Amino acid sequence: MALFKNKKVKDVNYISAKESRRISRENRKITSEIEKKRNRKNVPREEYITKMRDPNNVLEFDNLHTYFFTDIGTVKSVDGVSFDIPLGKTVGVVGESGCGKSVTSLSAMQLVQRPQGQIVSGSIRFNTGKEVYDIAKTPTYEMQKLRGNMISMIFQEPMTSLNPVFRIGTQLDEVIELHNENMSKAEIKARSIEMLEMVGIANSEGVYKMYPHELSGGMRQRVMIAMGLACNPRLIIADEPTTALDVTIQAQILDLLRNLKDKINSSIMLITHDLGVIAEMADYVVVMYAGRVVERGTAEEIFKNPSHPYTIGLMNSKPVVGKKVDRLYSIPGKVPNPVDMPNYCYFRDRCDKCIKKCDGAYPEEIYLSPTHAVSCYLYYDKKGALENGN
Ligand SMILES: Nc1ncnc2c1ncn2[C@@H]1O[C@H](COP(=O)(O)OP(=O)(O)OP(=O)(O)O)[C@@H](O)[C@H]1O
Ligand code: SF4
Ligand SMILES: [Mg+2]
Repeated sequence: MALFKNKKVKDVNYISAKESRRISRENRKITSEIEKKRNRKNVPREEYITKMRDPNNVLEFDNLHTYFFTDIGTVKSVDGVSFDIPLGKTVGVVGESGCGKSVTSLSAMQLVQRPQGQIVSGSIRFNTGKEVYDIAKTPTYEMQKLRGNMISMIFQEPMTSLNPVFRIGTQLDEVIELHNENMSKAEIKARSIEMLEMVGIANSEGVYKMYPHELSGGMRQRVMIAMGLACNPRLIIADEPTTALDVTIQAQILDLLRNLKDKINSSIMLITHDLGVIAEMADYVVVMYAGRVVERGTAEEIFKNPSHPYTIGLMNSKPVVGKKVDRLYSIPGKVPNPVDMPNYCYFRDRCDKCIKKCDGAYPEEIYLSPTHAVSCYLYYDKKGALENGN
């Protein structure tokens, strides 16, 4: 009880049970309306078949908003994200924990935890080569055909994605069978073994019969990659694919991913908080902060000319071999509360380069080159900043 006498605590963090009930009632109203729309049968195709802005892209996020309607308020996890994934390229997405990287990628798979998590507005245009789907509006029964087949996902911790009670072969067979209904059992098994060989597993027949716990972390991740690539997807989403592995295995897995991507000519959306991995793999980089993209460009532009103060902070916090420092740099301050975002630059309270203009509304994106965009007032008057990329 003493806690509640402390007015400060009460003012800042306390939501009464009554208030929480009111929020949850409102949430139910909003989410059941969205769910009702989503669960319709026979949705007309014109509602979700669309056109790419640029046909050289495989995926285009366009002003995506994905929210979680929780009992303490609406968490705006993805709050107006736009970026492209060009065909055959790797796009690295970086940003600190909780900035919305995974929720962005889960939105592209329609795997956000429902009903509380919902795409509330924006588009995710996916180019199958024949047609373009707006995943934000695609009904679940159509999405099932794209997921795994056209877009696949490789997660951080393979042990939680593999089922511990089934053999590796059974799990791989299942994925292949799901997307190739006409194959015989023998053909499916042969394809599974071929996939295990393709990801560099030497004893493929043996591993086919093993259970996940009999494999090392690196081997399990290879199996996950085999599953992810079994159907030659056009887009591979890899969410921290090597974070749980040690450095040498990490390098091998990244190499493997890069080679396989070229072999099947797909694109990769690579999510990581490790700038080293980005430098190694990515053609383009997207930097996220508190649910928004603060800077994006080619890997060269971002590494040679990081422009947003947050990106500069990220670069400074990366340890460099041979550079002696007393302590590692960390960006001071903390991310704003995702339930109650300010209406000015989200990075302002941590930024050491603030200028008078930063008191204004959240800064619009400004182009430093046709491919390099940044959301920061520092560049508004700079020569060479091209508004809207023109
Ligand atoms: N199921 C959920 N319910 C409520 N909030 C959620 C849920 N999933 C994610 N969030 C919130 O959405 C925000 C973005 O989360 P996300 O998982 O995308 O972060 P991330 O950038 O992937 O972080 P990390 O690097 O730790 O994986 C966070 O504030 C998180 O708390
Ligand atoms: S807009 Fe202002 S506060 Fe925001 S990052 Fe740029 S300089 Fe810093
Ligand atoms: Mg994540």
